[in-house]
Amino acid sequence: GEHVYKYYADGEWKKSTSGKTVAIINPTTRKTQYKVQACSQEEVNKVMDLAKTAQKLWAKTPLWKRAELLHKAAAILKEHKAPIAECLVKEIAKPAKDSVTEVVRSGDLVSYTAEEGVRILGEGKFLVSDSFPGNERTKYCLTSKIPLGVVLAIPPFNYPVNLAVSKIAPALIAGNSIVLKPPTQGAVSCLHMVHCFHLAGFPKGLINCVTGKGSEIGDFLTMHPGVNCISFTGGDTGIAISKKAGMIPLQMELGGKDACIVLEDADLDLVAANIIKGGFSYSGQRCTAVKVVLVMESVADSLVEKVKAKVAKLTVGPPEDDCDITPVVSESSANYIEGLVKDAKEKGATFCQEYKREGNLIWPLLLDNVRPDMRIAWEEPFGPVLPVLRINSVEEGIHHCNASNFGLQGCIFTKDINKAMLISDAMETGTVQINSAPARGPDHFPFQGIKDSGIGSQGITNSINMMTKIGNILLETP
Ligand code: G3P
Repeated sequence: GEHVYKYYADGEWKKSTSGKTVAIINPTTRKTQYKVQACSQEEVNKVMDLAKTAQKLWAKTPLWKRAELLHKAAAILKEHKAPIAECLVKEIAKPAKDSVTEVVRSGDLVSYTAEEGVRILGEGKFLVSDSFPGNERTKYCLTSKIPLGVVLAIPPFNYPVNLAVSKIAPALIAGNSIVLKPPTQGAVSCLHMVHCFHLAGFPKGLINCVTGKGSEIGDFLTMHPGVNCISFTGGDTGIAISKKAGMIPLQMELGGKDACIVLEDADLDLVAANIIKGGFSYSGQRCTAVKVVLVMESVADSLVEKVKAKVAKLTVGPPEDDCDITPVVSESSANYIEGLVKDAKEKGATFCQEYKREGNLIWPLLLDNVRPDMRIAWEEPFGPVLPVLRINSVEEGIHHCNASNFGLQGCIFTKDINKAMLISDAMETGTVQINSAPARGPDHFPFQGIKDSGIGSQGITNSINMMTKIGNILLETP
């Protein structure tokens, strides 16, 4: 019969007893590319039990040994970059070169996490009692970081490999076990990545990967009593998860509407280059993409001309040809983007290019003279469409940025460092970049959103710490 990718549990590849499968549609061909198992709730229960048992032993495995296995997995991952990248191309239509970069970056992230883990988890704290009023120096406290238990990792479609390992590696180095629920688009890339961990020789049951429909196992997983921590990256499902999840630590990175504020004194060539990179790489399907340009009226014409010239040079087509702009992930995503474009048209935005779409492929589009009453001024297209709002004061730009329900990142372009610092301080986002486009990396930098953009902070160090709790041992002298 036809090939269906197996799911991974107890150190083995398994077929679901549900008899059901989930089809993964290639965004470019819009035909079924792969099929994965649709795991049942019973299977999820089994996986949770396995993960719990495996975690107990893993927590007792010396830290240096955990690190050694992670280094091994990182090397295997990098060796397998070509086949994994090919899956990324087919499943999520990521340009070929960027797909390879994602896998290499993931290997580096795993190695760095192993190194960081041995350092920060190799140290604890020692406290004495007589600093608190009324106490003699008779009590001693030894604190160290101990694992949480089972970590549920849910990465998004746009970085199925990288945003999976950014959860898996910190969890493992800290002594936790993993249940991974891949996104449907990107599931096979995730399974290939998991295979690299399998080859590295981690203990059975420590890493598990269940595939299936969110509607069937999504809530069941996130509300499962066996889960001790959830690390999620994605859309507003994260808000629903955080309302339903139990009393466990949550790490959430949700959407963004990253603003790019451009002052009169900015280097407009630099701005234009960053708008292209920030707004159009992976066809705008990044939470950290530049999603609205707020430019001072006096330089707006000149900036728009420069960006327009660069948009004209973007190549549009299949990811296999390494085109800059590739089909967006799904038909529903393309329809949503089109809805935003139509709304902007009706309300009088200036189209710098003609709107063009073939299947899921949408040509890059810059919309000038966007006003706050247009949906695109606030909503995330997650596609290659970028709105430009002209502002008459810095305050107007800051106001627009802060009126958003999102608060992931933002950027400010000016040659005046004092102004840049003041504006950065006034922008309510997790990070503000001065004179460069928003981005998550390098991967050891703290990465966080506020408001609807998420809770907690990521980045290698913060993720390791977040996936631990404090354990004390107290000594008392008579
Ligand atoms: O959209 C996912 C988010 O984490 C962005 O990552 O590396 O594209 O800035 P990056």
